[in-house]
Amino acid sequence: MAKIQRIGIMTAGGDCPGLNAVIRAVAKAAMGKHHLDVMGIEDGFLGLIQNRMRLLNNEAVSNILTLGGTILGTNNRTSPRQYPVKVDGAVEIRDVTDRCLEHIAHNQIDALVVIGGDGSMACAADFVRLGVNCIGVPKTIDNDLYGTDVTFGFATAAAIATEALDRVHTTAASHHRAMVVEVMGRNAGWIALHAGIASGSDVILLPEIPVDLDVVCEYVANRSRHGKRFSIICVSEGARLKDGKQVVNRVDPTSPDPVRLGGIGQFIAGEIESRTGIETRDIKLGHVQRGGTPVAADRVLATEFGYKALELLTAGERSRLVVMKGRTVTHIPLEEADGKQRLVPVEHPLIMAARNIGTSFGD
Ligand code: F6P
Repeated sequence: MAKIQRIGIMTAGGDCPGLNAVIRAVAKAAMGKHHLDVMGIEDGFLGLIQNRMRLLNNEAVSNILTLGGTILGTNNRTSPRQYPVKVDGAVEIRDVTDRCLEHIAHNQIDALVVIGGDGSMACAADFVRLGVNCIGVPKTIDNDLYGTDVTFGFATAAAIATEALDRVHTTAASHHRAMVVEVMGRNAGWIALHAGIASGSDVILLPEIPVDLDVVCEYVANRSRHGKRFSIICVSEGARLKDGKQVVNRVDPTSPDPVRLGGIGQFIAGEIESRTGIETRDIKLGHVQRGGTPVAADRVLATEFGYKALELLTAGERSRLVVMKGRTVTHIPLEEADGKQRLVPVEHPLIMAARNIGTSFGD
């Protein structure tokens, strides 16, 4: 096998705290220890399609460990298999994978490090099938990537959501209100589960457990009857009512994953207020959860993942996804994660623990 001399690195999908820590770990180990060139591909797969990339040097990857976002830019609306191109004034969806392969060859890139979530890993798996060596590094605040017990970015998002839930306790208690805080997570309830438990939320609503509004309202009203004059409800943006429907905030037809969830918190707050008579407010945390500097645990995990990705490449491994199993950083075939999501099991020990200390899951 030919020795790797130049790697390409990209961050793809939604941004997430810890991306720069991975870039730094990969690039510093590649340049310093293995004397490899590192090409930074801009804006994820969009940069590969448009041949936008630059050689990174030590200066470019210094002082970025604590930075939120990504120095390379990212994009969560581009798949090389479905790229909108303008033809005679009309937009046509084209497969531009060949163009990406040309750019990889033209820039003499021997292997790609793709830092992304499930959508990005599906694109990377596609390139693996076309003969490109890709190593995947799992990122997402949602913690829903199949094959790994944890993704970096999640700890930061859960910490931010916990702080928000802690802070609304003050107003809830002073004004004797119910407060509904909507957190992100798409179809997985990991952020809601962790932040809900960490903040001692009274009700935690997850996409994995259908919500019965009668149960939620009775729980809040019952607390009030027993002298608990406020309630905190932590709801995941993907939570569903019993009919299975989710609340959609927007649909972006140009995105491979077009549905953006959001708004269930406002709906639930309205229902609680009108059914119980208890004054209720809602807060949607949104992108605050993805912003700013990563917590220490995410900086450590991102560094471990980045270093592992580079070690795999230099050891001659091909097409692997770096993962955490238990407390060990290891790897699985990249295709294994393709298109799969890791949801919260309804019998998860954390759910059992919370139920047994009196938390309602609205079911
Ligand atoms: O996957 C990360 C995430 O923040 C989800 O939790 C959320 O549903 C989605 O991205 C929001 O996407 P966008 O940034 O495109 O609005």
